[in-house]
Amino acid sequence: MSPWTSAFLAVGLLLAAPAAVPAADSSTAARNNYMLRCMGCHLADGSGSAGRVPSVRDSLVPLASSAAGRRYLVQVPGAAQSPLSDLELAQVLSWMVRNLSRQAAPGGFVDFSAAEVASYRRTPLIEVQATRARLLPSAPLDRG
Ligand code: HEC
Repeated sequence: MSPWTSAFLAVGLLLAAPAAVPAADSSTAARNNYMLRCMGCHLADGSGSAGRVPSVRDSLVPLASSAAGRRYLVQVPGAAQSPLSDLELAQVLSWMVRNLSRQAAPGGFVDFSAAEVASYRRTPLIEVQATRARLLPSAPLDRG
């Protein structure tokens, strides 16, 4: 093949390459991370499985409305120990509150930030069940 033909083909290939994919917005990234890292246990709609993984559909909004509840949401092992960065985890938790809850997040709901996640994440939560029962006495964790 002549050099000209090769050059022509190379330019043709470049032109045929798909346009650069625009950077996904944070909620798309959060949804994808939820599907990859969390959905296996929590299911697509957050309903979990009775006796094993609690439904998050009614717990996230009340928990996310207090500092102690937000700390619990970050420190729960599935969240804290995930391979997600602090920013990615902050975005996934915010996405979960906004998209998996049966009741709409209140107007004053503040998204989790990477700094907030970082401030809680490295402290392990040992008493998961007791902590949740204290924060949400009406819906104790049912682990069967
Ligand atoms: C291997 C199964 C599993 C995976 C994967 C998992 N979780 Fe969980 N998650 C649980 C279980 C079980 C609980 C109940 C608390 C406990 O026993 O640790 C829970 C509880 C939670 C809670 C507290 C909800 C409540 O109502 O108390 C949050 C928030 C949470 N997970 C977020 C996540 C996030 C974010 C991811 C993905 C990065 C994730 N989880 C991945 C099993 C899992």
